[in-house]
Amino acid sequence: MAEKLAPSAVIVLAAGAGTRMKSEKPKVMHGIGGRSMVEHAIAAARELNPKKLAVVVRHQRDRVAEHVVAFDGDVHIVDQDDIPGTGRAVEVGLLGLDEQGEVSGTVVVTYGDVPLLRAQTLQELIAFHEKDHNAVTVLTAHLDEPGAYGRIVRNQAGEVTAIVEAKDATPEQLAITEINSGIYAFDAKVLRESLAQVTTDNAQGEKYITDVLHIAREAGHRTAALAIEDRWEVEGANDRVQLAQLGRKLNDRTLELHMRNGVTIVDTQNTWIDSTVEIESDVTILPGTQLHGTTRIGTGSIIGPDSTLTDVTVGQYAQVSRTHGSEATIGDDATVGPFAYLRPGTVLGESGKIGTFVETKNATIGKGSKLPHLSYAGDVTIGDHSNIGAASIFVNYDGVNKHRSTIGSHVRMGSDNMYVAPVNVGDGAYSGAGTVIRQDVPAGALAVNVAPQRNIEGWVVKNRAGTEAAEAAEAAGAEAKNSSEESNK
Ligand code: UD1
Ligand code: CA
Repeated sequence: MAEKLAPSAVIVLAAGAGTRMKSEKPKVMHGIGGRSMVEHAIAAARELNPKKLAVVVRHQRDRVAEHVVAFDGDVHIVDQDDIPGTGRAVEVGLLGLDEQGEVSGTVVVTYGDVPLLRAQTLQELIAFHEKDHNAVTVLTAHLDEPGAYGRIVRNQAGEVTAIVEAKDATPEQLAITEINSGIYAFDAKVLRESLAQVTTDNAQGEKYITDVLHIAREAGHRTAALAIEDRWEVEGANDRVQLAQLGRKLNDRTLELHMRNGVTIVDTQNTWIDSTVEIESDVTILPGTQLHGTTRIGTGSIIGPDSTLTDVTVGQYAQVSRTHGSEATIGDDATVGPFAYLRPGTVLGESGKIGTFVETKNATIGKGSKLPHLSYAGDVTIGDHSNIGAASIFVNYDGVNKHRSTIGSHVRMGSDNMYVAPVNVGDGAYSGAGTVIRQDVPAGALAVNVAPQRNIEGWVVKNRAGTEAAEAAEAAGAEAKNSSEESNK
């Protein structure tokens, strides 16, 4: 393992237009694995614990700056001016950081659209760069199809002497398969001096950062390259096809990490887990599951199949099946689903149950309490060990305002109850099926308000003569009667 060396500064380049995204949204704000690309770049940079961290912006400047600062308030936003090119971007980044005291030592440059680059790789780059006292070290990869990437030019001794852009390269140079990733470690002083000599005299009329390597070498400084194995780490996303490819690669990496930590993932092709999610060992993830945001899963829990949880905390040994949930908490040993919809503010206690076709919102459901079937629980607090009968609705909305209800502990409420909020049900209370609870129910009371049932004997035989129902009724001994209970025609 490389020693953890903190660089003086990291400069993340994010000023480019990104036209191939064909998006109104800035390219670096497009996301994979639960974070935007630039958030991934900042997170990796931050792990290095640099003294200063700059993000260089220009295209849709305000939107990108706001997004970056919301993620990491300690980032220095630096504006690139009219001079185009990666060299100018690094130059303004360095000048911007110098304003708070001149930067010396190692400066790392990364891109805001290269989301898979790991902090560990950057640490290896810094260690390699500093061990050999290099002035410039470039991270490279070997590609069978080097395409439009800059080429790494080496002399006969194998030393890196220059980086040549594909558009400026000779046919011989184009045949080189070692490419420039665009990720570098520089000595700050050499970088500053060399950038001052970089011109825009090239095929694109831009100030190239790549020219710094050749200029530094000519001035007698050491230049080198560090080649990496996993090319995906330095791959950028220029369009949505590449974004999806990188999203899949990042997901593969995230799943592998969890599996190595003791999580069972049954179907790695159909499980998507954001890099921000935390999962304890001995959790089982069944096919078709997506875990997003700050979701955390405790040991022994079984999640899925076909569940999407966003910012949901699941305790230990819980079961969550075919569930869509967000901003909810599920207690230890609790069961949810199949086919449950947990909306924000749902808190299910230990060993509680939210069953089939149940929707909850701003609902606190106590220890061992159950909402087993076909119900809506919005704006309610339910105590411990209570049971809400099937097909019950917490009628929380009067058409203008939302109201909250409370249910006590050890309550047994009947099926098909309506709780017209705000209403309170005391501990140990019962209710009959079909009750519309409009008034508070005291502790231990039985609430009923359904009208007594009437049976009008012989009604079908008389009023629906000739139907299959009437024939069946007659066969069972029913007769038409002229009773006073005759219904309206
Ligand atoms: C650059 C390198 C090339 C390398 C490739 C790797 C140069 C001259 N060329 O190519 O050798 O193989 O990266 O992907 O450096 N950016 C700015 N300001 C600018 C221009 C770009 O901040 O004025 C940022 C972009 O937002 C992006 C990064 O720099 O994050 C790279 O820009 P891009 O245009 O994709 O790189 P190239 O110049 O094509
Ligand atoms: Ca690019």
